Amino acid sequence: MHEHTEEMSALADRIIRTARDRVELDPIPLEHPKTSDELDELCGETITPAGIGGDRALDLYNEVLSPASLSVDFTRYLSFVPAAPTEAAVLFDLIVGASSTYGGSWLEGAGSVWAENQALDWLRQVAGMPEGAGGVFVPGGTIGNLSAMVAARHDANERRGADRPARWAFLASKESHSSVKAACQVMDADVILVDTGDDRRMHGPEVAAALAEHGDRVCAVVATSGTTNLGLIDDLTSIADVCEEAGVWLHVDGAYGGAGLASERTRPLFDGLGRADSFIVDPHKWLFAPFDCCALLYKDPAKAQAIHAQHAGYLAFLDAYGDWNPSDFAIHLTRRVRGLPFWFSLATYGTDAYAAAVDATLDLTAAAAERIEAADHLELAHPPSLSVVAFRRKGWDGAQYQAWTEQAMAKGLAFVTPSRLDKQPIFRFCFVNPRTSTDEIDQILADMA
Ligand SMILES: Cc1ncc(COP(=O)(O)O)c(C=O)c1O
Repeated sequence: MHEHTEEMSALADRIIRTARDRVELDPIPLEHPKTSDELDELCGETITPAGIGGDRALDLYNEVLSPASLSVDFTRYLSFVPAAPTEAAVLFDLIVGASSTYGGSWLEGAGSVWAENQALDWLRQVAGMPEGAGGVFVPGGTIGNLSAMVAARHDANERRGADRPARWAFLASKESHSSVKAACQVMDADVILVDTGDDRRMHGPEVAAALAEHGDRVCAVVATSGTTNLGLIDDLTSIADVCEEAGVWLHVDGAYGGAGLASERTRPLFDGLGRADSFIVDPHKWLFAPFDCCALLYKDPAKAQAIHAQHAGYLAFLDAYGDWNPSDFAIHLTRRVRGLPFWFSLATYGTDAYAAAVDATLDLTAAAAERIEAADHLELAHPPSLSVVAFRRKGWDGAQYQAWTEQAMAKGLAFVTPSRLDKQPIFRFCFVNPRTSTDEIDQILADMA
C-alpha cells in the first residue's frame, strides 16, 4: 500500500483536480444534509477487507458525501459564523497535508513554526500586545479559550500557594460564548456571569463589583471582543484597568471578532486589548483561513509553558533544542502546522488585502442594516456591530422563523438560521464573505416579506 504505482499517479491527478475545481467553483451551491440511513443506502459498505479502491471512494465523495455536506463559503450562508478561505490558503492546505511536518517542536518543525510565528506576530502587533507575547495555533476557539483559562488558573495557583480556594471561578459576561462555560466544566471551576450595561457589553464597574463580591476565588476575567450573537466588543479599557488593579488575569475571546483588528475602521473598538494576558482569534472565521485554525497569544508565554509543557524521558531531547516548542502553549502535543495556510495567504496577498476584505464585509453589514430599517416587514433587533446584523421579522413567531429557514434551505436560497435575543426569536446575518453581494441580501430579505 505504500508503493507508488501508475494507478496512484492517476488517482493523484483526479484528487488534485477535484480540489482545484472546488476552489474555483463559482457560484457555490447550498448543499443539503441527508440522514445516516440515506447515506448508508447510497454508499453501502465502504470499509472492506479488500478496499473499494480510490476511484470508487472519490466518486462516492463527489457524488454523495460532498453534496450532503454544507459549504460554509456559500455566499448566502450567513448563520453562526461562516468562513471564506482564500484560494491561496486552501491550496496551501494541500501542501500542509502532504508535508508530514510535525508542528509540536522546533527541532522537527523549525521552518514551518517560524512561518506560523510570523503570522502570530502580525496578530500580536495589530492587537497591540507587547513584544515577547506569543503562542500557538490550536484547532479552534474552544480549545484556545480552555488553554488560556488553564494557564490563568495555574498562574493564580502559583501566586496563591497554600492559600488557594477549594474551587476557582472565572468572570464572564452573559453574552460570552458557550465555550467559556464548557471550559469551566472541564476544569471543574465556576463561571460567574457579570451583568452587562444597556449596550449589552461588559464594563469595568460591573467587573469591579463582581470582584468585590467573589474576588477571593476569581482567577481570571474573560472578556469578549465580538460576541457571537451580536458582534459586540466589551469595554476592554475599563476592564483592563480593573484587572490590573486587582492583579487578575484578563483573557479576551476574539474568536470571531478579533479579525476586526485587520481594518483600521474597526481597530479602535479593541482599545485596551493590548493589556490582556491572553487573547484568541480564529483565522478560520473572519480571517479567510480554512478550518481548523485558532491563534492563541499570551502576554507572557512562559506562564502558559509552566502548565502546558509535557515532560518525559522521550521528550527531553526536544527541550534542549531551540526554545519555542509550540506544543508547550496549549493542551496538545502532536499538532498539524495549521497556521501555515493563514501565513501563506497573508504572505501572498499582503495585510492591505486583508483590511480591504474585512472592509468589504463591513460595507455589506451597513448595507443590510439600511435595507432592514427601510423594510416594513423587518426591524433591527440591535444596532449592528462588527459584521453582525440582528433583526426581527415583524409579526412572526418562532415556528414561522423556523419554517422560513427550512424552505429557504430547501430551495437553495440561503442558510440563515433563527437565533434568540431576550428569549424572542431573531434572525442574524454574520458577514465574513466579501463575495456576498447586496443583490443577494435583497433576495433574502424580499423572501421574508
Ligand atoms: C466568541 C466565540 N468564542 C469561541 C468560539 C468557539 O470557537 P470554535 O468553534 O472555533 O471552537 C466561537 C464560535 O463561534 C465564538 O464566536
